[in-house]
Order: sequence, then C-alpha cells, then structure tokens
Amino acid sequence: MTSAGPETKPASRTTGAPQRCGFGIDVGGSGIKGGIVDLETGQLIGDRIKLLTPQPATPSAVAKTIAEVVNGFGWTGPLGVTYPGVVTHGVARTAANVDKSWIGTNARDVISAELDGQPVTILNDADAAGLAEERYGAGRNQSGLVVLLTFGTGIGSALIHNGTLIPNTEFGHLEVGGKEAEERAASSVKERNEWSYPRWAKQVTRVLVTIENAIWPDLFIAGGGISRKADKWIHLLQNRTPVVPAALQNTAGIVGAAMAAAAEVTR
Ligand code: BGC
Repeated sequence: MTSAGPETKPASRTTGAPQRCGFGIDVGGSGIKGGIVDLETGQLIGDRIKLLTPQPATPSAVAKTIAEVVNGFGWTGPLGVTYPGVVTHGVARTAANVDKSWIGTNARDVISAELDGQPVTILNDADAAGLAEERYGAGRNQSGLVVLLTFGTGIGSALIHNGTLIPNTEFGHLEVGGKEAEERAASSVKERNEWSYPRWAKQVTRVLVTIENAIWPDLFIAGGGISRKADKWIHLLQNRTPVVPAALQNTAGIVGAAMAAAAEVTR
C-alpha cells in the first residue's frame, strides 16, 4: 500500500489559475487503486493509494474500500470508477472475472451511498484505459478509429473514434475459430499453458484479424501487464493494422476514470 502523504494535495500552478483535476479509481481483482489526476497532462498528482481488493469482492465490500481510498485523499468532487465488465447507466451487467453478485447491481448508487452522495461515474476498465491512452498515451497523435485491447486475466477492449468512446465493446468475448477471444489469447492463457511468445502471438494475431476484418481500425493499442514486454511479441504479430504498446501502463485506468467523471463521456 502506498499512503497518501501531503504531496498528494494538488499543487497550485504558478499562474494562479485553478488546476483542472479529477479523481479516478481502478478496481482490479487484487487491488483498488486511486489518485488525483491532472486532466491537462494525464499525469497523477502525487502518489496513488492502493488497497487490497476485499474477498469476496461483493459490491458493498468493494464500495467500502473505494470510499476508504477516496477519503484518504479528502476528495469530495466527482469520482470516476472502473469496473471489469459491462456497465450501462451505472448498472453492472456482466461479471466475467468478478463476484457474480455484481450483475444487476447499480454500482453507481452503491458507491455513491458510501460517500454521502458524491457523484460517481462508473465505466468498463478497458474503456477507461482506452480513453486515457487515446488522449495522453500511445494514441495521442492518432486520428480515426483506435482499438485498445488489454491482455490480462481476460481481454478487455475499448473502441474510440476521434476521441469519442463507444462503450462496452467486449471484443474479448468475440468468437474466434469456435472459442472466445479471451480464452484463446488472454495473457493468462499464455501463462497457464506455459506458451512461448511466438506461440501466443499466433493466437493474438487471430483475434486481431477477426476484429480488423469487422471494423477496420487505424490503430491497435496493446495494454495490460504483458504490454511492458512488448519488444518480445509485438513484432511477431501478422495482422495488417499497426499495433503499438500502451504508454501509460498501470495509471491508465485511474486516468480514464477521472476523465469519464469530468466529462460524463459514458452513458
Ligand atoms: C470483461 C471485460 C473486461 C476485461 C478486462 C473481460 O472478461 O468481459 O468487460 O474489460 O475482462 O478486465
């Protein structure tokens, strides 16, 4: 756990103008991380706080941990929160890799209730990462259609057209050759089967080709922990659309959540 020291307070800028900042929380299977985000640069202001995800990770237990992180900063403004599944109108619709009791829960209300009614925006974790990468990271000089894929326990996806997010694409659940994409090419599959990078890259290629044949993106951004080893596998891919590694790494979820809360970019 990193603790929020005095350096987590937003520093005032030399111009004296108010700094535009937001707050994001990234909910993952093992940790719940949050921090204050400078929305002009996409950088965190000060440290982030990371607490362990409670087990079982039920909505009310997770909401309490989120409130602990937020209160650690004394943040009282709009709050953005990621969720590792489909979310529409604040309600969790799927729970592929989390406690099934999330399905049908109005996550926005449950979290807001722990924070005296503080406004909460909740969005899919990969959608949040995609927003952040497109604006501040690997997609920042790219116009057109960008697809971010996060390779982890599952495969998350974000589809962004000229800065506008089309939420909940769930490309990780597309059927590719009779199998769900994430069962074929998540990085957890590589680990479980002890595959080499070339062997795994073949499966990733199949997934990318399926997506590009359907929607013809201009750029793929590869995220998730395995993107830190991009030099070992991105050059092995044989699809036609350029693939670049994510740039923001483990802050992308926090940054994208803060962007969503500030802009209300999701429904
Ligand atoms: C879920 C996605 C999520 C991804 C990464 C998938 O199994 O369906 O919604 O973005 O995992 O957490």
